[in-house]
Amino acid sequence: MTKIQLTFPENFWWGSAWSAEQAEGRGETGKAETIWDRWYQEEPNRFYQGISSAVTTDHIHRFKEDIQLMQDTGHNSFRVSISWARMFPDGGTGKVNPKAIAFYRELFTEMNRKKIKIFANLYHFDMPAALQDQGGWESREVVAAYVHFADTCFKEFGALVYHWFTFNEPLGPILGTYLEGFHYPNLLDFKRGAQAAFFTILAHAKAIAAFKKHHLPSKIGVILNLSPTFPRSQHPADLEAAEIADQFYTRSFLDPMVNGHFPKKLVALLTEYQQLPDYTEEDLDIIQTNTAQILGLNYYEPRRVKARLTAINEKNPFCPEWFFENYIMPGRKMNEYRGWEIYEKGIYDLCLDIKNNYGNIEAFISENGMGVADEERFMDETGQVIDTYRIEFIKDHLAYVWKAIQEGANIKGYHLWTFIDCWSWINAYKNRYGLISLDLATQKRTIKKSGEFYKQLSDQNGFEYEKDLR
Ligand code: BG6
Repeated sequence: MTKIQLTFPENFWWGSAWSAEQAEGRGETGKAETIWDRWYQEEPNRFYQGISSAVTTDHIHRFKEDIQLMQDTGHNSFRVSISWARMFPDGGTGKVNPKAIAFYRELFTEMNRKKIKIFANLYHFDMPAALQDQGGWESREVVAAYVHFADTCFKEFGALVYHWFTFNEPLGPILGTYLEGFHYPNLLDFKRGAQAAFFTILAHAKAIAAFKKHHLPSKIGVILNLSPTFPRSQHPADLEAAEIADQFYTRSFLDPMVNGHFPKKLVALLTEYQQLPDYTEEDLDIIQTNTAQILGLNYYEPRRVKARLTAINEKNPFCPEWFFENYIMPGRKMNEYRGWEIYEKGIYDLCLDIKNNYGNIEAFISENGMGVADEERFMDETGQVIDTYRIEFIKDHLAYVWKAIQEGANIKGYHLWTFIDCWSWINAYKNRYGLISLDLATQKRTIKKSGEFYKQLSDQNGFEYEKDLR
């Protein structure tokens, strides 16, 4: 095996990401109740070890120390999200909160001072509970409130932010809220989910329309979780199952948000099963004319599917699984803690899909990472987590990103999930993803071995790789 030096393009964005609800903590600025606060009040048992998002990584009080740690671990860029509930503490609407503006201004000014480019995301699963009560993403009024929030952020922080994002993983709240029970209020109704998905896409387009009026030098886009879909075999039944799964989970948001139109096959299928949301011609026009200018790719695992073996129970409400089953490939490599397959080459397939089918839009890996439980097991006598598995994970994925770039993919950076171990929704602090470990009792932060590796990686703009890339 030969060693090769993998060097990335100049000014490559090295960094990581997290979100407001997962890292900031409540603080004293005033903040509306979010769906996560509400759910915790109602069902604390749903959260791993009963930990809420009240304190999390306490970034709101420790951001100066944290920005220094960004520098120490080689960050030249970092993705935050701006909390809608903090900016509009009267339930997500009404008067803007001067204390929230002051907090984000201070945070962003300090990041700029330390030469860390700010990637600001406007929505990361954190709906104000009062707006969820009005229907959440099923409501046009909520879309209007979101656009007002977005517009306020462009006005207040436009001069400080490097790039903007309308949503992180918009598919997540649809699956979580309407199909799979991991987001409050846990409904089961595909058609209502389709309506919420449609209005999310409309909200993205309307926020982009508002952004254009500010004439900022930054770009605006969206961050999507995209798992390339692989059929069990080349049998036509498996190919069809894979195509339908791909339409539901990949093309549903990617096509309208980046290309401006909905995938025809998905529309035909939803029409046939009477699951299409309500919309107007004007909505379609807005979506078509306001598409993403930059695209974030979150990649964790591939999607493997096969043709259904069993008949559908039609008493179970309509859902994507009526058309396929998930396929457990023998010999697959697993991250058992999270239950996700590790398939490094999938990141390459994803980058090439974007190159070939989405106009090679400017893109970057906006999340990729490995959540591991009980990482104290890997601490040395000084208290540092020796996470060689994470270093290998990063290198093996980056090697395929590098290969995609050699083949012309327009990939501008790599952001790991995550920076300091943060709160992970219903999994709370079960799986740790960070370059820096967090002692929950003391809030002490300690750079892991992977954090040291990341600094070197960023300083050298690459690394030496020893495995074959097939
Ligand atoms: C991404 C989300 O899907 O995965 C993050 O954008 C999340 O918010 C991360 O924390 C890890 O997933 P999980 O479910 O282990 O927290």
